Amino acid sequence: MSEKKKKKGFSKKAFKKSLRIYSYLRPYRVQFGIGLFFLLLNSLGNIALPKFLGVLVDFGNESKPQAEINKVMLLLSGMLLIQAFAGFMRTNLFVRVTSKTLAAIRQSVYAHLIKLPMGFFLKRRVGELNSRITSDITILEETLTSTIASFLRNTITIIGALIFMFFISPQLTLFMLAIVPVIVLIAKYFGKFIRSLSKKMQAQIAESNTIVEETLQGVQNVKAYANEYFEIERYTKKTNEVAKTGIVGGLYRGGFSAFMTLGMTGAMASVIWRGTILIGQNKMAAGELFSFVLYTVFIAGMISGLAEVYAQLQKAIGATENLFEILDERSEEILPQQEIAPENVLNGNISFNNITFHYPTRTDIDVLKNLSLNIDSNKLIALVGPSGAGKSTIVNILLRYYELKEGQLLLNGKESKDIPLTELRSQIAVVPQDVFLFGGTIRENIAYGKLGASEEEIIEAAKQANAWTFIQSFPEGLDCIVGERGIQLSGGQRQRLAIARAVLKNPRILVLDEATSSLDSESERLVQEALEKLMKGRTSIVIAHRLATIRKADQIIVLDNGQIIQQGTHEELIDDTSGLYSALSELQFAG
Ligand SMILES: Nc1ncnc2c1ncn2[C@@H]1O[C@H](COP(=O)(O)OP(=O)(O)OP(=O)(O)O)[C@@H](O)[C@H]1O
Ligand SMILES: [Mg+2]
Repeated sequence: MSEKKKKKGFSKKAFKKSLRIYSYLRPYRVQFGIGLFFLLLNSLGNIALPKFLGVLVDFGNESKPQAEINKVMLLLSGMLLIQAFAGFMRTNLFVRVTSKTLAAIRQSVYAHLIKLPMGFFLKRRVGELNSRITSDITILEETLTSTIASFLRNTITIIGALIFMFFISPQLTLFMLAIVPVIVLIAKYFGKFIRSLSKKMQAQIAESNTIVEETLQGVQNVKAYANEYFEIERYTKKTNEVAKTGIVGGLYRGGFSAFMTLGMTGAMASVIWRGTILIGQNKMAAGELFSFVLYTVFIAGMISGLAEVYAQLQKAIGATENLFEILDERSEEILPQQEIAPENVLNGNISFNNITFHYPTRTDIDVLKNLSLNIDSNKLIALVGPSGAGKSTIVNILLRYYELKEGQLLLNGKESKDIPLTELRSQIAVVPQDVFLFGGTIRENIAYGKLGASEEEIIEAAKQANAWTFIQSFPEGLDCIVGERGIQLSGGQRQRLAIARAVLKNPRILVLDEATSSLDSESERLVQEALEKLMKGRTSIVIAHRLATIRKADQIIVLDNGQIIQQGTHEELIDDTSGLYSALSELQFAG
């Protein structure tokens, strides 16, 4: 909370930081500059208009010939046309620049975000991150398209109008300045207060509606507990609150509109009153007073606009700070997919050497404790152990989701740190515990393992994964939509799609995090069979929950509390009746 508070306001540092946004505008600075030129032209039109109108009035007053009046009108029309054109051009150019700039910001934020290490995503909730980025970018969009323009236009117009007004009458200008801005600013704050009241009322109305909605939906419960009167009282209390807020709001709104009318008309009348006295003293012409009053109206509007601009700029500074905070997080070194350098081709040999590890979010708890483990090429290793033992953590380290602080991970006998991350991960496939399918077709979901795979390759992979039969049973086949808006696949079907994905990837190292939820025996058999095919000829690490999988393992690692407590084949371990493995095994068969 306090951190958020700090972000508000125009601190110089925050402002300076947010100027970094300029680096995204830079490529379009010429267009932006031309836009600014049109903006200036447009504002000059604003400034000149009251002057022109004043001259017209004076010409009429002095009974000038019609031809001269028409000439002024012609000039005025020309100016108005140019002004309209300038307005069109500046909006057009600003929107153009903004669209391109925002696309660049969106792209760079996303490209950065997706490359951030897992540690970052542990700290931030994904939904929150997503909505924040969306709303921050929307604020920037408004700022770049309209707020900056309003700020410049209003400032230029106020300054220009004041200069003209001083020319007409310094005395009257000072008089106007003493009242108009004060009234406008009071009105602004008043308006803000009223808005907050009506927001409060909206919230209260929503609360009272919730009572109606919930009690009607759960009317059975209300009746079963004979709580009708309790609910009636609850609703009465809430609606009375709404009424009270409404009445207070009405009081202020009434006051506001009275103040606005009185303030604005009073200010206008005072200016005209002073002006008339000046005309009487021959210090001013009627047309000049006319111009002056128009300028006053302009200035009032522009000051009110500036107050809004100020609030919007504050928001924009906060938004840019948020975005740059993300951009300043250190990302993983991820490069576009490329050929794997021969020296980085994995042979499937994996060594964990004295690894002690804790998650960045929980620095006090060592999840792995001085763990050492050697896995030979093309072997099948099973990791077993109670929940929370650190099995998935070992996989996370293998994939280098987290940086190691103590101990080493060796691949091919060399430090895994020396292998570029993209090349490393592209040689490992993970079939996770909970298969995540992207909203899209089955084809796209399988091809995620090898982008650009051919139809034949995809079908072959599906066949290998025992998935082809069920895919064919859908009318749309491979083009069947899955995921949130598509059809729901069963757990076993999802796993087989994940296996097909892994088959396509053809990894050197395969990791299976066996699903804990059990499948029916037919699905189980199909999945098991597919896995066995997939494991051939590569190093496989299976986090196993069902001992059937484990029996075939070349080596079983029993983990408990971040340490290896037993290691060997099924036959070797089962004999040690005092060990954890035989206990787990007994539990499994009892179940
Ligand atoms: N992202 C994380 N941040 C902090 N602590 C974590 C994180 N992930 C796991 N842990 C902790 O690390 C320990 C090991 O977790 P891990 O996921 O490796 O267990 P596991 O052996 O895979 O368990 P399961 O069989 O339930 O999947 C647990 O105590 C867990 O609370
Ligand atoms: Mg796990």
